[in-house]
Amino acid sequence: MTDKYRVVVVGLGKRGMHHALAFQANGRFEVAGICDVDPGRLDAAAARLSGCVKGTDALQVALAVKPDVFCFCTLPNLRSAMIRIGIQSGARLIAFEKPVALNSREGMEIKKMLAAAGIKAVVSHQHRYGEHYRKVEEIIASGALGRVHTVYATATAWMMHNLSHLIDYMRWYNGNAEAQWVMAQAAGDGKLSDLHPSPDYIAGFIQFANGVRGIVECGAGAPDVPEVDYWWRKCRIGAQGTDGFAEVLTAGGWRAVTKTGAASGGGCMNYDLDMPPYVQDIADWLDDDRKVHPCNFDSAYAGFEIMMALCRSAVDGGQVALPLTDVADEIEMLRAYLAGHTVLPSTPANAKEYLRAEVKLIGVSS
Ligand SMILES: NC(=O)c1ccc[n+]([C@@H]2O[C@H](COP(=O)([O-])OP(=O)(O)OC[C@H]3O[C@@H](n4cnc5c(N)ncnc54)[C@H](O)[C@@H]3O)[C@@H](O)[C@H]2O)c1
Repeated sequence: MTDKYRVVVVGLGKRGMHHALAFQANGRFEVAGICDVDPGRLDAAAARLSGCVKGTDALQVALAVKPDVFCFCTLPNLRSAMIRIGIQSGARLIAFEKPVALNSREGMEIKKMLAAAGIKAVVSHQHRYGEHYRKVEEIIASGALGRVHTVYATATAWMMHNLSHLIDYMRWYNGNAEAQWVMAQAAGDGKLSDLHPSPDYIAGFIQFANGVRGIVECGAGAPDVPEVDYWWRKCRIGAQGTDGFAEVLTAGGWRAVTKTGAASGGGCMNYDLDMPPYVQDIADWLDDDRKVHPCNFDSAYAGFEIMMALCRSAVDGGQVALPLTDVADEIEMLRAYLAGHTVLPSTPANAKEYLRAEVKLIGVSS
């Protein structure tokens, strides 16, 4: 026995391996069990994480190990079943990947299960740890922007990949304020059949309780971020206040204009840099209840709820009040509403990603 927190990691793809290796590299943790339904991935992971229990059945591995931390990094179609296993295993904390769920029905079920079990949970919105993301937050918190009235975010990748990230960082830049209502539009059904099912484009407004306006766009119709070459990282998140603005580009550093002048700096989203402090904050929260993890479930859930409300507004029209009080399957709502609708992309690069081969690109020059 060691005094390290014992971890089980389920789903050993890209993000599962990021988590497993970051836990293993941190002296406070020991990866004691690993699981993937793909035996090839399981063996490859076992070769890098020797000495732990391995298996293709998450429940069996979890019950054999009885971990302190149950971590799962499966695709978004698998959430509540894994939360149930994590609770059954007796873990003190569940660490899992965004998005919280694919619809509010499952999201609310997860929230209830975690609350009933009295268990801690974190959701991986780890971009927060990027030096450029943090710099923007520091500038906002210093008061250099005056009274913040607007937070905004755009990403060209689709909703289930990026929107919960965007909303999480907008909320952070706005002092984690709660939202009162949202209003949105959506277009294009192509990515509804993706493993991260999403409308091709969704855009909307968020009214925060502190009076700040949120403006968000995600997907094919989102604007280019010309400062960044890598399409997957064309994300811009920022805040405007009475005395200036500050924004981060996921792969393009930060910049600000305030009363004292213009300033800018580097920084690029980097899993190798973001995962170690994310994992260290898990140890700190396990050690001390007062050191609540910045990516705690309640915060992620508030962002998830905003995302689901945006979907409902896109289908039903009008403003949607928060918090949500009833459950729905927002992806099925969008599927019915957008069936047969083709999106109009805003750039040739977006067209390449979103338009099916048979669709002619009209009005977008290359
Ligand atoms: N936070 C971030 O920056 C970030 C970045 C990329 C992806 N993600 C999220 O991470 C999650 C995983 O994405 P990924 O790219 O690592 O996916 P992936 O496909 O590379 O890995 C998923 C793994 O889960 C395994 N799996 C599926 N069902 C399982 C089961 N029942 N039991 C055990 N293993 C099972 C698969 O075999 C696969 O190895 C997604 O929700 C995605 O949105 C987050």
